[in-house]
Amino acid sequence: MSLRLQLNLLVASLIALFTAVVLAFQIVDTRRSVREETEAANSVATRLLTYFVETYAQTSQPIVLQSLERLGRVRSNEITLRDSDGHTVYRSPQSPYKIGRDAPAWYAAMVTPEPMRSELHFADSVLDIDANASRAVLDGWDDTVILLQLGVVAMLLGNALVFWILRRTTRPFDTIVRGLEEMQAGAYHTRLAEFKGAEAGAIARAFNRTAQAIEDNLDARREAVEATLRLEQSRELADAVQIRVEDERRQIAQELHDETGQGITAIRSMALALVHRFDDGDEQVRDTAQLIADTAATLYASTHDLIPRLRPPSLDALDLAAALEDRVAGWRREQPRHEFVLAIGPLPDDLGESFSLAAYRIAQEATTNALRHAQAQRITIEVAVDDRQLRIDVTDDGRGLAPDWQRPGHYGVRGMRERARALGGELAIETQETGGVRVLAHLPLE
Ligand SMILES: Nc1ncnc2c1ncn2[C@@H]1O[C@H](COP(=O)(O)OP(=O)(O)OP(=O)(O)O)[C@@H](O)[C@H]1O
Ligand SMILES: [Mg+2]
Repeated sequence: MSLRLQLNLLVASLIALFTAVVLAFQIVDTRRSVREETEAANSVATRLLTYFVETYAQTSQPIVLQSLERLGRVRSNEITLRDSDGHTVYRSPQSPYKIGRDAPAWYAAMVTPEPMRSELHFADSVLDIDANASRAVLDGWDDTVILLQLGVVAMLLGNALVFWILRRTTRPFDTIVRGLEEMQAGAYHTRLAEFKGAEAGAIARAFNRTAQAIEDNLDARREAVEATLRLEQSRELADAVQIRVEDERRQIAQELHDETGQGITAIRSMALALVHRFDDGDEQVRDTAQLIADTAATLYASTHDLIPRLRPPSLDALDLAAALEDRVAGWRREQPRHEFVLAIGPLPDDLGESFSLAAYRIAQEATTNALRHAQAQRITIEVAVDDRQLRIDVTDDGRGLAPDWQRPGHYGVRGMRERARALGGELAIETQETGGVRVLAHLPLE
């Protein structure tokens, strides 16, 4: 059943109920007032005629008859005069009030009071005074008809008003339903116009806000997906660059070792041969050859030192632990004023080159940073496997991170983080409570 029909039925029922209640009260009230009026009129007529009869008790019937005819009708009473034989010699005239009309019998039965009759005997006659409530009952009926008519008019008007108001209020609902269907079909740009009614207007505004929120949400999600894609692409690029850089370093190290190293060695050998040849000869030539041999030796040593920096050779041949020990030994030689502590836990045999290289480079950059920026005494490097995660932990006892440590143009920390993330791990750098910096990376081995 539609809302409109339901409300119309409700209003009609309420008005009908109200009319019925008023009608019931009206009938009860009419019944009471008809009885009071009839009783009062009958009692007045009886008292008047008793006095009349007592006054003329000894007189003959014609005088009473004449007086009754002059008296005429007494309201709500029928007056009848009977002679000694019981024949009616006088009947008071009919009331001209609403003559020819009577209330319906069922209504009259409800409101008409008990019959009231007074009989006055005098001389040889009887005077009957009967209460007649038919006019008062008719008045009550007429009021009832008016009340019923008003009820019907109120019902019609009330329903018409409800129908009109509801039609006005619910008219935008079709548009709202259409809008919801469009949204369901994916048209999230759908917006509703401003409706006139307060409720429909509020629904339209809420609808538009919801549609806007959905659109914003979708845009945000799309942007997030695009950003993730871009990030992944840039990570892939960074990985590719990293691999290229490592390749280049490997090749340069190889070249330095095979070509430059061999060349320098050859120069040194030739210079030494000259030294031997001129052992007893030209002293100037011998010294110059000796100088060339010494310079070549120095050059060889520094070239050789350069090779492990470009490419940790031990990572090729040995394992991560050996490579780190090698590098730390180098630092101990180069930086005698610093104390280096290296702690390497048991590492799996199948660590793989990418993990070994990442761990080595992270430890190398973190230690280099500590040497460059920390003014530290002691640098501790720990590498271990906890919970199937390779942990690289480098701490120093230096002055900690400066407030502007993240300023642009510095790439070491970023590079370490990229290496960790490329292998699905994380890297954190922070100033410890004790003052120095801690670089902690976790690379999941699974
Ligand atoms: N152990 C440390 N102690 C104090 N400050 C540090 C430490 N490690 C890093 N920093 C601070 O963080 C900054 C960024 O380090 P990052 O390695 O990214 O760059 P960098 O070492 O300055 O230059 P590069 O790009 O050559 O590595 C450094 O400039 C330094 O201020
Ligand atoms: Mg650095």
